[in-house]
Amino acid sequence: MIIIARLMFVVAIALFVPVLTNSGQLVLAKGHDNVREACSVTRFQSLCVETLAHFSSTAGRSPSKWARAGVSVSIGEVKRVRAYLSELKRHGHMKGRNRVALSDCVECFAYALDELHKSLGVLRSLSKSTFSTQMGDLNTWISAALTDEETCLEGFEAKNDMQIKLLQNQVQNASCITSNALALVNKLATTGLAGKHQ
Ligand SMILES: *[C@@H]1O[C@H](CO)[C@@H](O)[C@H](O)[C@H]1NC(C)=O
Repeated sequence: MIIIARLMFVVAIALFVPVLTNSGQLVLAKGHDNVREACSVTRFQSLCVETLAHFSSTAGRSPSKWARAGVSVSIGEVKRVRAYLSELKRHGHMKGRNRVALSDCVECFAYALDELHKSLGVLRSLSKSTFSTQMGDLNTWISAALTDEETCLEGFEAKNDMQIKLLQNQVQNASCITSNALALVNKLATTGLAGKHQ
């Protein structure tokens, strides 16, 4: 009995696994086209595809969903970097100009996070009657977040300091991701809310 049961199990696996992987690949390939198409308007496309790929099936071909995904991912990254910066500040190893820059940076990231949160709020309550005002606000706030991140980056003096270089890489990453979010929002502004893909 046990042998037969095992045999049936093996046969079942042999029959079903190929079917599952084939359809899985089909879904993945289709989703991948969506994310590539959405990311084609961004400046840092491979970073865009890498950070947004898992939204492919839920966002489909909807510019408003991609804009929301972009801002959500940006919030996540800004939060992560802010926590890292705060931790560095708490340890207090930095000296002189970099110490001041780090304090400013923590503040800039708090502003950026606030601006991105406000943006996500708008993206969650889009309406046709206030669409152009909403797009204006989004552009203002996400641009401001980007400026805050870039201001942070400029304050440091790296020279050969590995810790500063690592910090700058992370801040740069956050600002590239925010730049991508802005591009996705601008795409939404040009497409509008009309049409079935919202
Ligand atoms: C950039 O951000 C993405 C998304 O959070 C993350 O996976 C990646 O490790 C980051 N890279 C750097 C250099 O911080």
